[in-house]
Amino acid sequence: MTAIKGATVLVTGGGRGIGRTLVEELHRRGAGKVYATARDPRTVTHPGAVPLALEVTDPASVAAAAEQAQDVTILINNAGASVRASYLDSPMQEVRRDLETNFYGPLLVTRAFVPVIERNGGGHVLNVHSALSWLADGTPYSASKAALWSQTNSLRLELRPRGIAVTGLHVAYVDTDMTSDIDAPKADPRDVAVAALDGIEAGAHEVLADDTTRWIKSQLSAGPEALYAQLKS
Ligand SMILES: NC(=O)c1ccc[n+]([C@@H]2O[C@H](COP(=O)([O-])OP(=O)(O)OC[C@H]3O[C@@H](n4cnc5c(N)ncnc54)[C@H](OP(=O)(O)O)[C@@H]3O)[C@@H](O)[C@H]2O)c1
Repeated sequence: MTAIKGATVLVTGGGRGIGRTLVEELHRRGAGKVYATARDPRTVTHPGAVPLALEVTDPASVAAAAEQAQDVTILINNAGASVRASYLDSPMQEVRRDLETNFYGPLLVTRAFVPVIERNGGGHVLNVHSALSWLADGTPYSASKAALWSQTNSLRLELRPRGIAVTGLHVAYVDTDMTSDIDAPKADPRDVAVAALDGIEAGAHEVLADDTTRWIKSQLSAGPEALYAQLKS
């Protein structure tokens, strides 16, 4: 169990979307200091947050952020991108981009901050996955979130004896810039932030933030036909 009250937390992609809502909710729960990263830190407008520049795919940028935030005890790997590339028709560079941002990015950040959290007496890492970790949507985005889920499951075992707990957050559509062109029911980012932080405080290994995500997970053992209606005919 990890207390948020008084903790020093770093939220990647904390300037907008789910990340900004996490920053707001962290303040509401009495976090001692909250670093909010953005590629352009001037876009971080929350008055209580400490803005920090971070491009998660750039090792030098990650190292510089870790250098500046030596007091972190909770890391939230929230930053992510959805390129919606096509496996068969997009340039390979675009196919690789989701993996660079959503899989290698959080790994670079975690590798940089694990020694920091350890030096500060242990703490917590939360990785933002997706319902699409368990449901392929035809794009490398879902592959990147499946890979991140697996990464989280391995890191949880490696970090537990080092005093760092690990939570994976899964959620379906959320009402942010990422889904602005999608016409479908979407969760409120505030509900997602509340569920994520409840999970950290409870020491949950996994947080399923909405009914759609819970349904998708419940179908996994039933075989591909249960999740992909196209396979039934
Ligand atoms: N929205 C959904 O439906 C949904 C569903 C499931 C999971 N998620 C996941 O939730 C997380 C947050 O998404 P969101 O919905 O809040 O999306 P969003 O509003 O588009 O925000 C994306 C955030 O990620 C940051 N980011 C993107 N690429 C980055 C990079 N290369 N380096 C550093 N920061 C980068 C952005 O920072 P800048 O401000 O610098 O651009 C921004 O803060 C993502 O991991 C996403 O995959 C979203």
